[in-house]
Amino acid sequence: EEIEKGGYDHFMLKEIYEQPRAIKDTYRGRLLADQGLIKMSGIDQNLEKFLNANRIIIVACGTSWHAGLVAEYIFEDLARISVEVEYASEFRYRNPVITDKDVLIAISQSGETADTLAAIKLAKEKGAFVFGVCNVVGSSIARETDAGAYTHAGPEIGVASTKAFTTQITVLTLMALKLAKEKGVFSESRFHEYLTELETIPAKVEKALLANPLVEIIADVYKDSTNCLYLGRGYNFPVALEGALKLKEISYIHAEGYPAAEMKHGPIALIDEQMPVIVIATKKGHYEKVVSNIQEIKSRKGKIIAIVTQGDEQVTELADHVIEVPETFESLTPLLTTIPLQLLSYHIAVMRGCNVDQPRNLAKSVTVE
Ligand code: G6P
Repeated sequence: EEIEKGGYDHFMLKEIYEQPRAIKDTYRGRLLADQGLIKMSGIDQNLEKFLNANRIIIVACGTSWHAGLVAEYIFEDLARISVEVEYASEFRYRNPVITDKDVLIAISQSGETADTLAAIKLAKEKGAFVFGVCNVVGSSIARETDAGAYTHAGPEIGVASTKAFTTQITVLTLMALKLAKEKGVFSESRFHEYLTELETIPAKVEKALLANPLVEIIADVYKDSTNCLYLGRGYNFPVALEGALKLKEISYIHAEGYPAAEMKHGPIALIDEQMPVIVIATKKGHYEKVVSNIQEIKSRKGKIIAIVTQGDEQVTELADHVIEVPETFESLTPLLTTIPLQLLSYHIAVMRGCNVDQPRNLAKSVTVE
């Protein structure tokens, strides 16, 4: 096992550090920037299904559901396709309206999650076209779907999902970009800009990982917290949810993720000097609005840990701690902002003496209801 951990203390940390490579492996052979092309056979062979779809329904559980939420923003914003994201367990039991004009995308690292598998079967019965985004090759979901695209993250051992999440987002981004181009929503030049930017992401993730020693210092300050709030807007709202889930899963600290603007409808009541609030406040995407949310937290004496764009000044002045990530297109920021949040939960969990790779009561793959 020590050899498999490759010198890291835990699989989770190893997998966090594998992300630059995993993301690259996921787009390798698909993203052909020099040819101005995205090649994905699962889509190429079923292009009409996607182009004629009324909407896309995404079903998933856990972290994969958060990747689905990011995809909702990407598909709607870039490809102008209407998307609904559903917890597989809710979807399958609520007599959903599904027609043969719907495309259902099932996202699953393991490809074995019972609820997701059942949702697929239901959608197929109703005539929908079902596309799988799985990590495990040959898994049940990969076999059960009409077509699909694998994330090439490699085996993920840590129960808390890390590289599966970022590679799922990578695949879904490729899909959205491809459809944006096929639909004519994207010009050649805009498409090209995205391809080029996407290719810079592994190096930017590498840079984001350099914050690790700083994140460790911050973790030490907040390791004894009993509650934690995560806020983000737009593309980074799902990242806030995922950050909170990561902390809950492995450190057993109660954490909640919220869209920053919703804070005033509830969570703001919880804010006092004991409450760490992690705010994703990157430059693009409602920056000024997030700044005013930060001011509201500060005036209630909450502790602010902000994830900011390199070179940020405004938030840096207000926050108790800032962690920088490189600048990128707004739609690609989740691939970077999620990195310090993974590291933060990892370090807090280690400092609390938790079993990071196998947290209590959780399973890597939930094959029963
Ligand atoms: C479990 C795992 C999570 C995972 C979820 C969905 O809860 O602990 O890490 O996100 O299942 O799993 P899947 O394999 O379908 O992505």
